[in-house]
Amino acid sequence: MSVVILDFGSQYTRLIARRIRELHAYSVILPGKATVEEISKHDPQAVILSGGPASVFQPDAPQPDEGLFDLGLPILGICYGMQYLVLHFGGHVIPTGTREYGRAHLVQCDGPLFSGLDGGDLQVWMSHSDAVTDLPLGWRATARTVDNPIAAVESPDKRMFGVQFHPEVIHTPQGRTILANFLAIAGVPLDWTPENTLKQLIKEVRKQVTDGDRVLLAASGGVDSSTLALLLTRAGVDHTAVFVDHGLLRMGEREEVEKALRPLGVNLVSVDAANRFLHALAGVSDPEEKRRIIGREFITVFREKALELGPFRFLAQGTLYPDVIESAGSEGAASIKSHHNVGGLPDDIGFELLEPFRYLFKDEVRELASLLGLPEELRRRHPFPGPGLAIRIIGEITPQRLRILRKADALFISALKEARLYGETWQALAVLTPVRSVGVVGDERRYGYILALRAVTSVDGMTADWARLPHNFLDRVAARITRNIPQIGRVVYDITSKPPATIEWE
Ligand code: XMP
Repeated sequence: MSVVILDFGSQYTRLIARRIRELHAYSVILPGKATVEEISKHDPQAVILSGGPASVFQPDAPQPDEGLFDLGLPILGICYGMQYLVLHFGGHVIPTGTREYGRAHLVQCDGPLFSGLDGGDLQVWMSHSDAVTDLPLGWRATARTVDNPIAAVESPDKRMFGVQFHPEVIHTPQGRTILANFLAIAGVPLDWTPENTLKQLIKEVRKQVTDGDRVLLAASGGVDSSTLALLLTRAGVDHTAVFVDHGLLRMGEREEVEKALRPLGVNLVSVDAANRFLHALAGVSDPEEKRRIIGREFITVFREKALELGPFRFLAQGTLYPDVIESAGSEGAASIKSHHNVGGLPDDIGFELLEPFRYLFKDEVRELASLLGLPEELRRRHPFPGPGLAIRIIGEITPQRLRILRKADALFISALKEARLYGETWQALAVLTPVRSVGVVGDERRYGYILALRAVTSVDGMTADWARLPHNFLDRVAARITRNIPQIGRVVYDITSKPPATIEWE
């Protein structure tokens, strides 16, 4: 039994699926125009119509199969989905000419979809430019904002619902309850577990990789690619893990990764490629350019290794959904940064991609890691970006700057571990800026670099808040850094959340 999500191109469709998983139900995403036969194959118990960038007035506005409504299933329309439902059943929608975007407040709400939410004053996230003005016969509005009297609707038999806002995003804090209410109304069984997700991923990998296919796994020592190595082993897939030392790693990282992965039975090959990466990056300051160069060099190294150890049909990467969405790898999404393993890849990579975690989030992969027996230390490791320190040195990367940043990063991270604050933060990092400022040491003038420390709390990296690290701790770290690294004259702490900033500075 499943919840079928019909996708009309919203950047949030995968988030709907994630919320459904969190509520322990099973969902399938199908294209908005899937036929009733295709939908029925998935034994649907409820249907969600996603939002989307189109306007219902466009001549080619996407529409679900007409026969969908004959199935008699409970339906929830989100944003575009709601407007489509209203129009389909005889209501009225108008283009407003402006885009209502961002936080809004429901001042009143009622009905089964809002059960347990005490009648109103809910923060919700809006993103639309068309608005419902008249409802189909017998339908009623179940929520309103100050500006919008029809922010949610329900049909007379209360099996069809619409919400103008996005219950699936984190900025609608009660969105989970709204989705849970919908699942309860539809009687969807809540028995889906991470074990089921694991079984399903193994099934999908086996379907993609057939007998005799070999896989080259891009290993970074992080939780995603390490979990992927264990998943491939569990699926019985013949793979070789290649770890590329691109010269942009943290202090002692290569040794740590080798020490962590080899005991897990991972067939690991390390490649020393520092010279070629640093050479290719010499003189480059632009963040996107850095990522593109790094993506390209990674692929060149993998290809060379494939000639030596291959042939390999697949390149397996621990790519996660946020990498895909931020690299605009999903329809309708804006490009925020081209993650080296997605938007930074050259067009012709010479492998087929195997990315089983492409639609999952970091915390979900951590859950799978635990099921697959990945040791706690690896599971709890902070994320580290594939381009490494290259995107933490603002401006040009030089061997001297790398040395400085490596030392500062090691001091910060070891202090966090000592103070037992490492596990309290989702990610922590040091950024070396090219800006120098004046200071005084003893009786001497010092003109040193400004180093920024950043630590964040997050669930999945899509949004993040700056970590409220104790002042005493920050004081200790700043003193340690300026004492031990004379080239650093000043240490600052980044107090910006994501959004509007991103976690990394580049
Ligand atoms: P941002 O900076 O976009 O980062 O808020 C979100 C998470 O993704 C990591 N990150 C990357 N990881 N390749 C990666 O493998 C990349 O190009 C990349 N850029 C950012 C970042 O460290 C954070 O955990």
